Amino acid sequence: MKILRTVSDLQEFTRRAREDGKSVGLVPTMGALHAGHISLMKEARRNNDTVVASVFVNPTQFNNKEDLATYPRTEEADCRLLEQAGVDAAFIPAVEEVYPSQDSASPVHVFDLGAVAEVMEGAMRPGHFQGVAQIVSRLMRWAAPDRAYFGEKDFQQIAVIRRMVLTEKIPVEVVACPILREADGLALSSRNVRLSAEARKTAPGIYEALKASVPYSQEHTVAETREFVESRINALPGCETEYYAIVDALTMQPVDDWNSPHGVQGCITVYCGGVRLIDNINYRKAGA
Ligand code: PAF
Repeated sequence: MKILRTVSDLQEFTRRAREDGKSVGLVPTMGALHAGHISLMKEARRNNDTVVASVFVNPTQFNNKEDLATYPRTEEADCRLLEQAGVDAAFIPAVEEVYPSQDSASPVHVFDLGAVAEVMEGAMRPGHFQGVAQIVSRLMRWAAPDRAYFGEKDFQQIAVIRRMVLTEKIPVEVVACPILREADGLALSSRNVRLSAEARKTAPGIYEALKASVPYSQEHTVAETREFVESRINALPGCETEYYAIVDALTMQPVDDWNSPHGVQGCITVYCGGVRLIDNINYRKAGA
């Protein structure tokens, strides 16, 4: 596996692949890789001739300095995992390579992300999705992949990236991959390593509540279902729901009933022993 540190090396690597008639799959990550990320690599490997993964803790998407400073950085282990997963090249740039100091001739681009980015994570973490758009658009323009892969744990992020790709007219297919879970149901996340032993025991209760709410939703309203989930999760020791939103699966706007033509998704953020965890569940499929 090649390690690419500069934008020009990345551009050159994927340009050559395309010249050889190969399709390119891109998997953007912030490192601290786990089996969830590896499932994205494998999916990219199945459907592309060349797979490039990026490992970059993107400072512009953190609105909390402490969170950025303590975000796990495990480059050596990440490279081993990427190599085992059959990735062809890892792009691991320094911050200055991705964000060279701006001057008045090249101001930071402000993306039109629309209402999809204003709710939930967008409301709780101002500027977060602008930061995600900054890095993902740069990676897409540099690597010019045929397909880019993202995990559904960050359900809203995928909707925002789809919108960004559309408005910026970036010719790439955005591929959403299912959430991977521990045997006890906890969604895999780089943040799970921060859970204390106690919080780790409690955290699976989040998915238990979400799962239990699906049959409940067959007989109850959206408001009742939201209340069902929130009260169960807030009853878990050390857990507090930041938000639980039941939304249209395309527009991310809260719904009042189950009849959305795009499907209905429940998206949650919970502080569990002080660690911010996110998860989501599908209630209704599109067109159902
Ligand atoms: O989902 C993530 O890990 C990040 O938001 C992403 C897409 C790699 C951009 O930094």
